[in-house]
Amino acid sequence: MPGPLTSYADFYQHSIDQPDAFWTEQAKLIDWFAPFTRVCNNDKPPFAHWFEGGKTNLCHNAVDRHLATRGDQAALIYVSSETGIEKTYSFKELHLEVQRMAASLKAMGVVQGDRVLIYMPMIAEAAFAMLACARIGAIHCVVFGGFASGSLASRIDDASPKVIVSADAGSRGGKVVAYKPLLDEAIRLSSHKPEAVLLVDRALAPMDMTPGRDLLWADLRAKYMQAQVPCEALDSTAISYTIYTSGTTGKPKGVQRDTGGYAVALAASMKHIFDGQPGETYFSTSDIGWVVGHSYIIYGPLIAGMASIMYEGLPTQGMDGQPNGGVWWSLVEKYKVTAMFSAPTAVRVLKKQDPAYLKKYDLSSLRALFLAGEPLDEPTARWISEGLNVPIIDNYWQTETGWPLITLMSGSTNGVERKTPKFGSPGVPMYGYRVKILHESTGEELTRPNEKGVVVIEGPTPPGFMQTIWKDDARFVNTYWKSVPGKMVYNTFDWGIRDEDGYYFILGRTDDVINVAGHRLGTREIEESISGHAMVAEVAVVGVADALKGQVAMAFVVPKDAAALTDASAAFKLEGEIMKRVDGDLGAVARPSRVRFVSVLPKTRSGKLLRRAIQAVCEGRDAGDLTTMDDPAALEQIRDRVKLG
Ligand code: PRX
Repeated sequence: MPGPLTSYADFYQHSIDQPDAFWTEQAKLIDWFAPFTRVCNNDKPPFAHWFEGGKTNLCHNAVDRHLATRGDQAALIYVSSETGIEKTYSFKELHLEVQRMAASLKAMGVVQGDRVLIYMPMIAEAAFAMLACARIGAIHCVVFGGFASGSLASRIDDASPKVIVSADAGSRGGKVVAYKPLLDEAIRLSSHKPEAVLLVDRALAPMDMTPGRDLLWADLRAKYMQAQVPCEALDSTAISYTIYTSGTTGKPKGVQRDTGGYAVALAASMKHIFDGQPGETYFSTSDIGWVVGHSYIIYGPLIAGMASIMYEGLPTQGMDGQPNGGVWWSLVEKYKVTAMFSAPTAVRVLKKQDPAYLKKYDLSSLRALFLAGEPLDEPTARWISEGLNVPIIDNYWQTETGWPLITLMSGSTNGVERKTPKFGSPGVPMYGYRVKILHESTGEELTRPNEKGVVVIEGPTPPGFMQTIWKDDARFVNTYWKSVPGKMVYNTFDWGIRDEDGYYFILGRTDDVINVAGHRLGTREIEESISGHAMVAEVAVVGVADALKGQVAMAFVVPKDAAALTDASAAFKLEGEIMKRVDGDLGAVARPSRVRFVSVLPKTRSGKLLRRAIQAVCEGRDAGDLTTMDDPAALEQIRDRVKLG
């Protein structure tokens, strides 16, 4: 690293001009069992391999390396307003629990490279399971607990896990959601069958145990109470995990990440972006089923030697289960949280609560609130910024990137001054990312300020970025790297502009992905589920702007029986059935907010569904160029149905 770099521009430029020197410096933020011999191997683009030759372990960096210096300090703070349980695990205690879990997995036959699918609510055992996998070199595949049997089954088939770790139930807003029947149904539906299922019994719902397959965590934990399981020295490029995300097709993509690059990327982001200091407390309100949970509930804060709060429950529910819009702020006060990470949708929920909650607690420990996952609207940003009186840092990234791509650097320990935030913009490109805006159809770079185009990244992509799509290099290349004409660049599938000061503004997806309350969903997946209903001839699902959730899914269905078009009670019944079907296949997160029946869907003459036009009509905007549309009356029907509310 050249002398101290005090401006963002210099810091960023150094990362771009001298990536090897830059990342070698960042790599010092973690422990290595063996040093790397090559910083970045980009011989076969777009596959960037980071820190080749190096050996390390994510669990060692998150847990073991802190034992000597801060073993008795808090590592994982588990708080559930669903069950009223609140428990702090020190680094030493976490170390013991993770080894018990690692020994249990090994006893079930799990070896390096095996997949372990984790389908769990937000409980501490989920963190133990992830860290235990990392410890022994197994690949974890965490599936969001809000997903139902159909989604889970397709992920079981794709990941082919040797073992599944799960629990009897989750709980949301005091309502118990039994996981075990959903899991059993998913295993029945999937072609691949796991050899063993490890179950945490929270005593929330009864469990039917399958003899010879299902085991109880309590039994194995007792057996391996004193287990000592060392961290495997893994290749930097060894796969640490896959996480499924939605895209244009109905088949979810297993985003695959490495070990060393990810550890370095997270350690660097904790320092340069999140300003996390060892011994402090980090609070991310996300879920382990999402990438934010992987990077900033589990690995990032722990690698930085911070305590991480893992919260189960709604933002509006107190520890006694009663409504309480101040529960998160009470945790900030109690655990002296210095950095908090949430999503705009959660802030919009809190905004509806009594503003007195913000004044009730001592929030002076907090240095910044980070928000990500969806566009941050100005009223929400202003409200929370005035309420907390700390900088609100929007950050833009994706499951694929693993850590923020566009945001503002923190400045407190690295000496780089934080640029002034601009409402509506997540900020500027982060070190290591060559971000460009290209014309959607010509691929030409748009360099003038405020020209709208597709946000892309030029390779080689930085450490922590996805390695590939699990088991499908061709899909990785074709989906992400060959979709802009004439250029091999990574397509984010987001629209964006860059203003005259170099700040980016993200203007929504270019594809069929929608964002409901910070949850990324593929409209195609929802369509597939709906079209499986016997009464459905055709369906189009679009995302429609919503003041609270950002977007909601709306389905337009052509029924096989015209009764649903004319008879309100038939329509009501079918709508209910369709919603139930989506609940069963994908989970309530994917349920459309409304299902409307039409006799024909708007398409081009070549038969392509005009989703953007449907969406525009639903949002009361101009439907754009419709010269290729087959039947203009189709859009009129949509307009009529939307008017009905
Ligand atoms: O469309 C962008 C939107 O969320 C997508 C990524 O979602 P996911 O893979 O679930 O990863 C979330 C990690 C934070 C992006 O393609 N998005 C994410 N952050 C922002 C955003 N849109 C606008 N502003 C953001 N800060």
